Amino acid sequence: MKVAITGATGFVGSRLVERLHQEGHSIKVLTRQREKGQRLFPASAFPRVEVIAYSPLTTGDWQAAIAGCDGVVNLAGEPISERWTPAHKQAILESRQVGTEKLVEAIAKADPKPTVLVSASAVGYYGTSETARFDETSQPVETDFLSQVCQAWEAAAEPVQSLGVRLAIVRVGIVLGMGGAIARMITPFKLYAGGPIGSGRQWFSWIHREDLVSLLSKALTDAQMQGVYNATAPQPVRMNELCQALGEAMNRPSWLPVPDFVIEALLGDGAKVVLEGQQVLPKRTQATGFQYQYPQVKAALKDIVSPL
Ligand SMILES: NC(=O)c1ccc[n+]([C@@H]2O[C@H](COP(=O)([O-])OP(=O)(O)OC[C@H]3O[C@@H](n4cnc5c(N)ncnc54)[C@H](OP(=O)(O)O)[C@@H]3O)[C@@H](O)[C@H]2O)c1
Repeated sequence: MKVAITGATGFVGSRLVERLHQEGHSIKVLTRQREKGQRLFPASAFPRVEVIAYSPLTTGDWQAAIAGCDGVVNLAGEPISERWTPAHKQAILESRQVGTEKLVEAIAKADPKPTVLVSASAVGYYGTSETARFDETSQPVETDFLSQVCQAWEAAAEPVQSLGVRLAIVRVGIVLGMGGAIARMITPFKLYAGGPIGSGRQWFSWIHREDLVSLLSKALTDAQMQGVYNATAPQPVRMNELCQALGEAMNRPSWLPVPDFVIEALLGDGAKVVLEGQQVLPKRTQATGFQYQYPQVKAALKDIVSPL
C-alpha cells in the first residue's frame, strides 16, 4: 500500500512508519518539520518513505500528496501533557479539529481517492469515572474539555464517509512504550520515590505501543473495519495496580504516593488525565479477532523497562 500519515514523527507515528516500512509499504510522512522527518527516516534506511512538508491548518499544495495513496492515517495533534493555558487549549483543539477538516478536504480533492482513513481519537471521549465501564457504544458521561476535543476531532473525520471512503476511528488509551507517559513515571521510580499518583483508585486504560501499531495497521487493510474501535488492552487497571507492576518490573518499591497538588502544580488542568481516569473495554476491537501481543500490564511493563 501507499499510506500518507500525519503525526508520523511522534511517539506512535514513528513506530507505525517503521512497521509499515518493514512490511513493504510506501509511506508519505506529512510533517510540519521536514528536517526532523528526514532525520528520523533517512533515505538510506527508509527508501520507501517520502517526507513532505505541510501546513495542517491551511488549504494548500500539500493536499495534492493524498492523490494516489491507498490509505491515510491521522495521528497529528498538539501534545496535551503541557500546562493548559487558554492558548494551549486552543492549539489542542484546533490541531485536531481543523487539522482533520483540512485532511478530509485533501481527500475530497484527491483523484484517485484513498479507500480508507484511519483517524485517531482518545478514550478521553467518554469523560472520567471511577465506576462506569465504557465500550465503543457508550455515550460520554460528562463533557469536559478533553471529551469535547475528542467529539470535535471525530466529527471532523466523519464527512469522509460521504466521499465513499471507509472510516475507522481509533479511540486510543494511554500508550505504554519507551517514551510517552511511562517515561515521566520512570524517573521517580528509579530514585526510589515512585508510587500511585492521586488516590490510586482511578482507572488507567492502557495499550502497549506495539499493539496499537498492529491495530492501526489492521484498520488500514481490514475492509470490514468501519466505525469506532477502542485501542485499549482488554484488562484496564487501577493506578495502584499500574504502579505496583511498574515497581516490580523495575525492582523498586512503589509505596510513596505522589500527592495531587504536585501533579496539579506541574500540569494545571491537564492533571485530570492522570488524577481521574476511565475504564474502557475494547469490545468492537476484540470482535474483529484482533490478537493482543500484550493483554496484561505486567508483561507489557516488563517488556518496556527491562532494557533499562
Ligand atoms: N500517546 C498517548 O498516550 C495517546 C493517548 C491517547 C491519544 N493519543 C493521540 O494519538 C496521537 C498520536 O500520539 P503520540 O503520542 O504519538 O503524539 P506525539 O508524540 O505528541 O506526536 C504527535 C505528532 O503530531 C504533530 N503535532 C504536534 N503538535 C501539532 C500541532 N499543533 N498541529 C499539528 N500537528 C501537531 C507532530 O508532528 P509534526 O511535528 O511532524 O507535524 C507530532 O509528531 C495524538 O493525536 C494523541 O492525542 C495518544
